Amino acid sequence: MSAPIEDPPLTNLRDRLAAIATLDAAALEAEDIAILGRKQGELTGRLKSLAALSIEEKRAQGAELNALKVQFEAAIGVRRVELADAARQREGAGVDLTMPGREAWRGTMHPVTVVIDEIVEIFGALGFSVALGPEVESEENNFGALNFAPDHPAMDMHDTLYLDPQGAVPAEGQRLLLRTHTSPVQVRVMREGPPPYRVVIPGTVYRNDAFDPSHAPAFAQIEGLAVDEGITFVDLKATLAHFAERFFGRGTTVRFRPSFFPFTEPSAEMDVACQLCAGQGCAACKGTGWMEILGCGMVHENVLRNCAVDPERWTGFAFGMGPQRIAMLRHGVPDIRHLYAGDMRFLQQFPSVGS
Ligand code: PHE
Repeated sequence: MSAPIEDPPLTNLRDRLAAIATLDAAALEAEDIAILGRKQGELTGRLKSLAALSIEEKRAQGAELNALKVQFEAAIGVRRVELADAARQREGAGVDLTMPGREAWRGTMHPVTVVIDEIVEIFGALGFSVALGPEVESEENNFGALNFAPDHPAMDMHDTLYLDPQGAVPAEGQRLLLRTHTSPVQVRVMREGPPPYRVVIPGTVYRNDAFDPSHAPAFAQIEGLAVDEGITFVDLKATLAHFAERFFGRGTTVRFRPSFFPFTEPSAEMDVACQLCAGQGCAACKGTGWMEILGCGMVHENVLRNCAVDPERWTGFAFGMGPQRIAMLRHGVPDIRHLYAGDMRFLQQFPSVGS
């Protein structure tokens, strides 16, 4: 074995070989020409000058120079691929198809919205259409036309949010307020034209209540109104029992308890067997096995008359329920404030139906 060539230019070439991996694209191409170029290339020149040497010298130096040439070619090739990959990454074409996908978070319906939509749909299938009314109402529509006595306690400042009158104090019954229930929309529907009516009325109502586990100052209601010839309490019971079975599930039992509302006579409250203990009695139903879900009754003849509907010819029933309350009963939510907080840890427990 001959000694390796130790002249300084070869040491220099080895240093340049090591530096190839650090060059940028322009420097790499320049170095390729400077080392391996056919005319001026440093290595090319040295290989050419071997021709003048003896066989032994050729063999000794030639092997070394040829090995260097192969190493240069390889290093330059590798660096070229590296730089091209990096450029492609920068352009965004370097998609790693093996990378696991990022989970996309899908928005879902609020549990109260789901309840409202379901109720509207169930009554829609029975021929009820949707009616809407304003949240700012006259005292007359919210109370007077609905047969509230002028001194009814619900009209007290403690329950009702009145709007400050601008300028002159409005006449009796014309004060403006935030509606305390959706029942004034019954009045609006009936005053708009003659019966028959079959409507459900979803909307927000307001009461002068502070937030606590079972109260909110603003909450949803769904009102129902059916007026036609020959409607009786049997229609009311059958319609609402059907609703309970569709909403809570087949075989759901209901019971009606006598109650009082100024705008219905007779009036009742409807309970369903507790959804959480199946009627056995638990904390949610306070041991009774029943949960109250709505108020209802036959439309009071004074209300019909107030709306120019002849009670000798037309009769009807009305009902009202609270979607927040129903959502709480359905899901066992202990505090109504969870339905208002917008806390994702709470809301993500209710994936939307069908998603
Ligand atoms: N408006 C009543 C309430 O807010 C509910 C109701 C509506 C009762 C229709 C009977 C008939 O409590």
